Amino acid sequence: MIRRIANNLHIMHNLYFFWALLAIPAVFMILRYLGDPETAFDLIHPSGELSVRLMIIAMMVSPLRQLFGRRGWTDWLLKRRRAMGVAAFGYALLHLVFYLIDMAVWEQIVKDAMIFSIWTGYIAFAIFAVMALTSNDSAMRMLRANWKRLQRFVYAAAILTALHWVYVDGEWRGALIHFIPLAALEIARVAHIFTKRSRSAAQAEAVT
Ligand code: HEM
Repeated sequence: MIRRIANNLHIMHNLYFFWALLAIPAVFMILRYLGDPETAFDLIHPSGELSVRLMIIAMMVSPLRQLFGRRGWTDWLLKRRRAMGVAAFGYALLHLVFYLIDMAVWEQIVKDAMIFSIWTGYIAFAIFAVMALTSNDSAMRMLRANWKRLQRFVYAAAILTALHWVYVDGEWRGALIHFIPLAALEIARVAHIFTKRSRSAAQAEAVT
């Protein structure tokens, strides 16, 4: 009990501290914009990139847990996964706001939304919004098994985000560098499941 209280008081174990840490870049971005509204365009890039990074780290938690099992650091990441997912949505929202401010003209915004590189971003954002809104205990209880099904849409959001990134940038290196670790972990996770299954099938055969 005392150990648990001490653990919670320790700054790196404190979830509020972690939320505050995630909010720091947003504060700097907003202050920079307020200091000079001309910087809206420059802020599209860092907000989008931070959103993707947080999404990727949050998505890496499951395969890491499956591959390395329950350990101190995988437990630590799991406890913070929800915060990272919600923060990824928060930075995507900021990214959208800076984009809208920079564009300024509605006709141009609507015209832009028809372009592949941009509508992929809007759909990814819509998926993020649904996931962030249902990322709480009461939504989890209400949706039950459907909650897990809903969470799987994050893979669609990740693919759309990767396409959005490649097409707005006109090159694939930036996106590739970011998505390779996640793709490698997912492949390792699938391989791990298959070896485990074939091992237990072989064991069952040896017993009969
Ligand atoms: C909501 C609709 C979205 C719109 C309208 C939008 C718009 C844009 C635009 C115009 C750019 C190019 C910025 C530049 O030239 O510097 C961009 C880049 C980017 N966006 Fe989005 N975006 C959207 C959603 C998203 C989402 C949901 C994510 C992440 C989860 C995201 C991540 C990125 C990234 C990583 C870049 C590339 C940054 C770079 O290297 O230049 N975007 N976005």
